[in-house]
Amino acid sequence: MSQQSVIKTGATLAVIAAICTTLVAATYQVTRERIVANEKALLEQALQPALAGVFYEGGVSESRLVVLPPHGLPGNDTALIYRVYAQDKPVAALFAVTARDGFSGVIRILVGVEFDGTITGVRILQHRETPGLGDKIESARSDWIFQFDGRSIGDPEVTGWAIRNDGGEFDQLTGASVTPRAVIGAVRDTLLYFNEHRDEIFAAEATEDSK
Ligand SMILES: Cc1cc2nc3c(=O)[nH]c(=O)nc-3n(C[C@H](O)[C@H](O)[C@H](O)COP(=O)(O)O)c2cc1C
Repeated sequence: MSQQSVIKTGATLAVIAAICTTLVAATYQVTRERIVANEKALLEQALQPALAGVFYEGGVSESRLVVLPPHGLPGNDTALIYRVYAQDKPVAALFAVTARDGFSGVIRILVGVEFDGTITGVRILQHRETPGLGDKIESARSDWIFQFDGRSIGDPEVTGWAIRNDGGEFDQLTGASVTPRAVIGAVRDTLLYFNEHRDEIFAAEATEDSK
């Protein structure tokens, strides 16, 4: 191959590479906004079940706080708090927390709490508990998780936040006491944290998206 044709082939390849790079960059730009909007919609949808009966305005996801350990919330993992407002007044908060004492490891839990400390809903975000036993904590598999609705610290008192076998007021699951203990403990500790830190939670600046 002559030197001239080597240069020509190289130049052609460079042009093709440049065109491809530009196309990829342009496609990314066009789709990025849509992906971000879709992700936000999915997140808002996922948060909603834990906010039953709460009237609120605007998106919940913009008000997110990322709380790094040590924070006093269950799990000593990064926790997320979403603040919920109506007419600029705080009406509720959603906590994504972690219970580490499940049967098969970490259980991620979403706890919705009204401003006065009453639970609006609890949902399991992620777990590895045994199918047919511990997995009944999922709202799709049994009604177990709904027993938290409307409860607060005081209903029952702190000592009542346990399964009936342990002298508490919450149902266990047949053949599975470890998983319910973990979830009940995490929900109780989230409520205690909320009661103690409510003003700071609503006064804090939202954590930027990149964090
Ligand atoms: C294979 C296997 C899987 C189990 N999975 C769970 C589970 O997911 N959650 C749970 O609470 N207990 C599970 N158990 C049962 C617990 O070991 C324990 O016996 C049960 O939770 C009762 O606990 P308690 O004696 O403290 O009441 C499992 C047991 C076996 C043998």
